[in-house]
Amino acid sequence: MSKRYCFGNWKLNKSVAQSQKFLKDLKEQFQAQENVELALFPSAPLSFVFKQGLASGVCWGPQNISYQKEGAYTGESSVEVFKELGASYVLVGHSERRSLFKETAEELHQKIKLAQQTGLTVVYCIGETLEQKEAGQTLEVLERQIQEGLRGADLSRVILAYEPVWAIGTGKSAEAKDLEIIFKELKDRVPDASLPILYGGSVKEQNSKELIEIPGIDGFLIGGASLKLESLLAIYKTMGA
Ligand code: PGA
Repeated sequence: MSKRYCFGNWKLNKSVAQSQKFLKDLKEQFQAQENVELALFPSAPLSFVFKQGLASGVCWGPQNISYQKEGAYTGESSVEVFKELGASYVLVGHSERRSLFKETAEELHQKIKLAQQTGLTVVYCIGETLEQKEAGQTLEVLERQIQEGLRGADLSRVILAYEPVWAIGTGKSAEAKDLEIIFKELKDRVPDASLPILYGGSVKEQNSKELIEIPGIDGFLIGGASLKLESLLAIYKTMGA
């Protein structure tokens, strides 16, 4: 089995106390599986909790970074500080960043370059909106996002996450038959066929077994279901050989 990735995106959820409890329980209950990597993406102020309390064998990373290294950029968070605190990964281009915070393709490209220079692996998120899907533009949109983000990137430090915007947080994952086609097309369109590609959008323990068996899916980016330790670990378990 090639390596798989079980990544949980906490978004703007959990207090310090809730995170400490989660990580304490995770330490007690985590049973690492060979070839399946577990990583969590907490909100930035929780970084210290992760530096201090994460089970060994589990990784973490921020959900966003500044495209600038340091300087007069009020309110931004430095990728170098995340690295100092032990982050291994960073999410770039999540659809909520693109739509709610108006991040541009050029900013995302800068963030990818800076994260890689700092030694982090980028989880670059792409995905079409419902409107684009209905207009038959899915592959065109994905291809454009891949080109915009990954031009000139160090592909050995990139994981792609395909998250159809209409499947995020809706409880309605994309259908297996559609994902089969899209992942096949994505594998043909990425600059390096060995680039891992995750699926995200309403992954839960009830559908993870079916989804992980779809050829081309190398893992998941999980939102809502990663907030409960039992469901995260249940999904993680379905991903083993
Ligand atoms: P969801 O979120 O699993 O709650 O649909 C996925 C994501 O936004 O990464």
